[in-house]
Order: sequence, then C-alpha cells, then structure tokens
Amino acid sequence: MSQKQSITDVLLVGATGSIGRLAVAAARQHGLRPRALVRDLRRAEQLLPGIELVRGDLEDPASLRGAVSAVDAIVLTHGSGGDPDTRRRVDYGGVRNLLQALDGARPRVALMTSIYATRSDIPGNSPWKRRSERLLRASGLPYTIVRPGWFDHAGPAQRRLVLEQGGTADGGIARDQIAETLVRSLLTGTALGKTFELIATEGEEQSDWAGLFDTLKNDASGSVDGVLDPADLPVEAEPQAVRADLDAVRALHGADG
Ligand SMILES: NC(=O)c1ccc[n+]([C@@H]2O[C@H](COP(=O)([O-])OP(=O)(O)OC[C@H]3O[C@@H](n4cnc5c(N)ncnc54)[C@H](OP(=O)(O)O)[C@@H]3O)[C@@H](O)[C@H]2O)c1
Repeated sequence: MSQKQSITDVLLVGATGSIGRLAVAAARQHGLRPRALVRDLRRAEQLLPGIELVRGDLEDPASLRGAVSAVDAIVLTHGSGGDPDTRRRVDYGGVRNLLQALDGARPRVALMTSIYATRSDIPGNSPWKRRSERLLRASGLPYTIVRPGWFDHAGPAQRRLVLEQGGTADGGIARDQIAETLVRSLLTGTALGKTFELIATEGEEQSDWAGLFDTLKNDASGSVDGVLDPADLPVEAEPQAVRADLDAVRALHGADG
C-alpha cells in the first residue's frame, strides 16, 4: 500500500551528512520536495545546491519551529558522533526538541538510529539512540525506525537488503541503500510502526518494498520499545529527566502509550 499521495514536503534533519545528502537525493528522485535543516547556510548551499534550506540547530528548540512548519514527513539522519554527553544533547535531545517543535502536527517520521542501539552488552555503547527511538514511539506519530549496519562495510555485490528485528543483526550496508530505505519507508504503508536493523548480503536489491517491510512485525501499540527489543532498559529505572521527556512528548501529541 503506498501513501505517496499524502507526502510531498519532507524535512531532512542531518541533511548535510553522509547519509542525509543521499536521503535528499532519494527524496527528490521519488518526486518529493526536500527541505533541509542546516546549521551553516553557506556550507549547505555548496553541499545541497538547489535544495530549500532552513537554518536550525537541534540543540536550539526555538530554531526548529520554522523548519517543521507544513511538512508532511521528516527524515532524521543527524548524529553527533561524540562523547556520551554530546549524544545526549544531539542524538537524543535533538529528537525531543524536534518533536516538541511540531506543536501537535503529525508528519510521518523516518528515524535513523544504529545497529547495536539496544546492545547494552557492548562496552562503551550508549543508550541515547535507543532513548531517542522511545521518544518517537511515545509521541504516537506515524513512524519507521531504521537501525543501519556499518556504513559501506558491504561490498559492491552485497545489495540484497536484510531487515531484522531483535537487535542481534551484524553487518554492513551501503550508504545509498540506507537513504533509499528511509525514504521508501515514508512512502510504504507496510513500513508504518516498525523498527528494524538493516544490513545487506550477497545479491541484488529487492524491488518489492511493500513486501520487504511486510515481513516485519509491528512494534507493540503503546510500547516505547521496538518489537523483540531486549527488556534490559526498564523505563521505571530510567533517569527522571528521561521519564519526564517521555511524558512530555506523549502529552504534546495526545499519545496514550
Ligand atoms: N558509521 C557507521 O557505520 C554507522 C552505522 C550505523 C549508524 N551510524 C550513525 O550514523 C550517524 C552518522 O551519520 P552520517 O555519516 O550521515 O553523519 P555525518 O556525516 O557526521 O552527519 C551528521 C549530520 O548531523 C548534523 N548535525 C549534527 N549536530 C547537529 C545539530 N546540533 N543540529 C543540526 N544538525 C546537526 C550535521 O550537521 P553539520 O553539517 O552542520 O555538522 C550533519 O548533517 C551517527 O549518529 C552514527 O551513530 C553510523
């Protein structure tokens, strides 16, 4: 089932990044009208010629209001790549600030997080991306969450997409395939309400996107976790500020989960 008729204007967050630039191109290729949230307009003009640019910083909630105005969908590929505190402020806080800036609007959202997002057994792994996913699920907005594998660790013959759930996937994926999957998820009804890891294996890319997403289980309605996610980060044991953020996004968007 395609939802394309209802999606035209798409905000891309992280649009100047290695995945974001490809997501802008994929959006255009699918006939969508991309709008890029950028911190540095001059730099962005070089990287994204001809694309509508809106200045904003994920750490500055007030700067996001204009960017989210009248968009049908949002693709988030931002990333701080930094220390745990930067991840908290940007990877997580950016999602919180953006959801708050929506002020009740209900665009379709595609969020890129990461393989290993739920792997608390990996030394040095931080829970901020997992927490950012929880905010999106708690918001009640229509979403798809994509957890890509290692960028470009797949060879040129590895184009067959593998979508997995449960957080145990491992492997690489080409950047363009991540971008394409994010944009396709906005346009495909069977991607709605799903969270999955994305890697690639030997073979050709599938053409039946509806069928590909359809093989996946839906996240449980009202749950802040992806279906099959490990139960090792109980909300009740989360820091008070994190629980307050979850309550705030639920209230903003009238979600009951
Ligand atoms: N490397 C891997 O194998 C791998 C695998 C899975 C997931 N990931 C995840 O992928 C993400 C990186 O993706 P990428 O390669 O596309 O990253 P990237 O090239 O570093 O781009 C990051 C994007 O986020 C934007 N950004 C950062 N802070 C911002 C802020 N405060 N406000 C607005 N925008 C901000 C950057 O904008 P500026 O241009 O203004 O800096 C840029 O557009 C990371 O979060 C990483 O955890 C990586």
